[in-house]
Amino acid sequence: MDCAKAILGRVAYPERKMEEFGKLLSIRKKLYPHIAIPTTAGTGSEATIAAVVTDAARNHKFAIASPRIVPDFAILEPAFLEGLPPKTIAATGMDALTHALESYLGQSGTRMTKSYAVKAVQLIHGNLLDFYADPKKKEPRANMLKASYLAGVSFTKAYVGYVHALAHALGGTFHVSHGYANAILLPIVLSAYGKSIWKKLAKLADSIQLTDANLTVEKKAKSFILWIESMNEKMGIPKSFGGIYAEKDIPAMVEHALKEANPFYPVPKLFGREELTKIMMEAM
Ligand SMILES: [Fe+2]
Repeated sequence: MDCAKAILGRVAYPERKMEEFGKLLSIRKKLYPHIAIPTTAGTGSEATIAAVVTDAARNHKFAIASPRIVPDFAILEPAFLEGLPPKTIAATGMDALTHALESYLGQSGTRMTKSYAVKAVQLIHGNLLDFYADPKKKEPRANMLKASYLAGVSFTKAYVGYVHALAHALGGTFHVSHGYANAILLPIVLSAYGKSIWKKLAKLADSIQLTDANLTVEKKAKSFILWIESMNEKMGIPKSFGGIYAEKDIPAMVEHALKEANPFYPVPKLFGREELTKIMMEAM
């Protein structure tokens, strides 16, 4: 889907090089009508203004962002997800969860984006493990497709946060799949946000009846992060990247993430070099 979006851009601006599309709002012309059909449940690209391109020569990823590349139609057909490998189901499903959470926890959310994000979290809570365990069952597949779409609509309006910024930095250089990188970084970044997101995480915990309703906001929030860790564990996603990068690689990734996130992403709490370095050390 991202490739199709990039091609549509090139067709409208044939004289341009691909990397020039990385500049903000670089696509202004009206494009050909465009129908997107997801074949995984996670990216939400069928609903978004973004297309992520890997620049293999320079070992990094950049995003094309323009309202012009939002597909005119999306077809959510669970049959196209038949036969997905469980690893892909896990990684893309956690990508969708990251979209829902980053858009919900950020400061650009509207009533609509928040309600879509909550619905996505509920659907992921109720269906991702079932989809992972039995990719042939139709209902979890259809529900995850819906969750991914809702999370996509939510983040295309309310943006993402440091999980995505760090995952893009990591994915471009070390070729880790986007969803897998998000899944590992998600609980670490949420813990680093600390108190600033407890209230919102507690609401999300309540929305899926994760804990006793009488627990404190802090306990609910921490249970929510534990739930994310348990989802990873049940789907074979480790707690860290197992040394695929070294300490010397962290500064460049942190610079890349800072450039992407500050000041564009409406993150719940602003991090600088020190905090992001700490997160990447923990995830290493
Ligand atoms: Fe994503």
